[in-house]
Amino acid sequence: METNNTVCAVAHPSLALIKYWGKINTLLSNVSYNISATTSIAVTLDNLSSRVRIAEAPENQFYLDGELQNFNIIQLFQHVFQKLYKRKFKRDLSIQPIIVDAKNDFPTASGLASSSSGYAALVKALDAFYGVHLRDKELSSLARIGSGSASRSIYGGFTIWERGKGYAKEIPYDTYWDQLSVIILAPYMEKKSFPSRDAMIQTAHTSPYYISWVQYSKKLSRSALRAIENKDIEELGILIRKSYTAMHASSIAAYPSIRYWKPKSIEILDYIDEMRMQGIAVWETMDAGPQVKLITTEAYVDKILHCIGARFPNMWTRVCGLGQGAKIE
Ligand code: PMV
Repeated sequence: METNNTVCAVAHPSLALIKYWGKINTLLSNVSYNISATTSIAVTLDNLSSRVRIAEAPENQFYLDGELQNFNIIQLFQHVFQKLYKRKFKRDLSIQPIIVDAKNDFPTASGLASSSSGYAALVKALDAFYGVHLRDKELSSLARIGSGSASRSIYGGFTIWERGKGYAKEIPYDTYWDQLSVIILAPYMEKKSFPSRDAMIQTAHTSPYYISWVQYSKKLSRSALRAIENKDIEELGILIRKSYTAMHASSIAAYPSIRYWKPKSIEILDYIDEMRMQGIAVWETMDAGPQVKLITTEAYVDKILHCIGARFPNMWTRVCGLGQGAKIE
């Protein structure tokens, strides 16, 4: 067996500026692959990490944040790696029992994109453990099986996952964007009420605004690419806000309604409006949970932290910049 005895991979969450919300259904080998109905544009964040350690063990075990999980998802990836190994090396990869130990240094499954970094780290670790050495594009395509947004977390910086495509790509960007900062505010720590997978299906099936969301998102993603190229953070900020509000509007109009916004989230949104009116360059976004992420520049971070700290004391807060892609430690 061509395995490395133990490996550890690290990856960082992918925060969508322009959202993936809705799937084009594809069914291959009985596995439902995630193919997005909308083009998403994202940044990979530093300062939040998922680590996956893999080692040989007497029996198969999968732990997430210290809690034992069902091994099925790992088995699914092992089958895929077996096929890829055979195709590449023209011989069989024999699969022995392993222990997979996944840990996040931030709240798991509460709308902070832990699945994006988690699955990216998992496929990176499996790839190194079995010595397959896939290219990033292939890793991106594999990570997507676990969670669509994980296809983007394979890469650092700005990323794009185009509608209908099986993998994400990096977007080249100017050093202008090194000033970009993201402030994560988590007013609620519990696990999200509605998994994004189910929420997307329910929205697509029942929301009268789903089709409009998909069409609108097409325009937003084109404009966002232009804003990144033109080094225009003001324009990008506006597009970021348009994307998440339209995404959430489509979900709220689903039946039964899917509402991720909670009272504290709305208080924060109102306060961000106030800050912007006072001339602070800050724009917000939200994902499948009640947490609010602020996009700003380094120059405003201290001021924003001060204001938020005074208005919402003791809230879980993390400041991030642009992070790197998944790698082996
Ligand atoms: O990748 P998933 O299945 O966790 O869905 C991610 C959905 C959003 O975070 C709301 C948007 C995105 O593009 O990351």
